[in-house]
Amino acid sequence: MSKTFRILLLPGDGIGPEVVGATARVLQHLEARGLAHFQIEEAPLGGASIDKYGMPLTDDTLRLAKKVDAILMGAVGGPKWDAVPYHIRPEQALLSLRKELDLFANLRPAMTFAPLISASSLKPEIVSGLDIMFIRELTGGMYFGEPRGITELEDGSKRGINTHVYTSYEIRRVARVAFALARRRRNKVCSVDKANVMEAGKLWRQEVHTVHQMDYGDVELSNMYADNCAMQLVRAPKQFDVILTDNLFGDLLSDEAAMLTGSLGMLPSASLGDDESGTHHALYEPIHGSAPDIAGQNIANPLATILSAAMMLRHTCHMDDVGRMLEQAVIKTLEQGHRTRDIATPGDTVVNTNEMADAVIRALD
Ligand code: IPM
Ligand code: MG
Repeated sequence: MSKTFRILLLPGDGIGPEVVGATARVLQHLEARGLAHFQIEEAPLGGASIDKYGMPLTDDTLRLAKKVDAILMGAVGGPKWDAVPYHIRPEQALLSLRKELDLFANLRPAMTFAPLISASSLKPEIVSGLDIMFIRELTGGMYFGEPRGITELEDGSKRGINTHVYTSYEIRRVARVAFALARRRRNKVCSVDKANVMEAGKLWRQEVHTVHQMDYGDVELSNMYADNCAMQLVRAPKQFDVILTDNLFGDLLSDEAAMLTGSLGMLPSASLGDDESGTHHALYEPIHGSAPDIAGQNIANPLATILSAAMMLRHTCHMDDVGRMLEQAVIKTLEQGHRTRDIATPGDTVVNTNEMADAVIRALD
């Protein structure tokens, strides 16, 4: 009997509960087939937690999050909580989880799915077969740098400040993740920074080179300024294999790349902690948001969350074969013509969230 993995579901807000619910059914099916064993728990996060407990992430949920083998999250946020104080906004839950669990390496694949290629805003020849893996540093840089805040100046006007800061340690550990991943792919890393204007970017470049020279000389390394990268992503995105970048640039560029695929509802992500520390925390979530406009209607696309579960099978459970099986079931489902509303083109038969999950479950058999 293989290991039982403790999985914490954090459905969150908007369509989160629907896509996580659909994915939980897929996991239960894998379990019923004897392919994997899970102990599944659930807790509120984001707006759902604000409504119940007055804060987006409770101590209980955080404690649980630290105990489990992996977290499968939906999405947080929505207009309902736009007016809550900044420090308890739903997004803060996600930021605290990242920081508290030290989830420093964010893996964001941007790949196209052949049956959906016409959904891209770019020409098919530019994006068909696209397969980029972003490694976004997730616990440092502009998002967490100190000092930060809004202060009042003597003349009564205000000053807002955030700090872009990176240490050698932070850069080196995420660079290692990128190089190691590249070896399992097409062996290329493009490291993205603004070394021409930012000291932290200059250090970023130096440290990435040091790690490369020390341990990963066999991987092809290039550097690019972030503005150029933004342009290259729409000009010739297939030049990239692994893109390694900091927290803020990674936020922007990964959204841009996701849109190239035309399938925002299809893309998964993984946020991983340190393997070596033994704590090994991991959080998996779709890259799309909570889509409050379509919440509660059973029409959201669950495939990004199902693919996030596949990443969990690979990175947490170390069951590459079952992960691949699930990914192939998703592709088969698309080839069979199943489409949720977001990926449908005129003439397609549209299925709902649960029907899509059912189709994946059938494709697994
Ligand atoms: C993301 C999101 C988050 C971020 C928000 C919700 C805090 O945009 O995961 O990319 O900015 O990191
Ligand atoms: Mg973002």
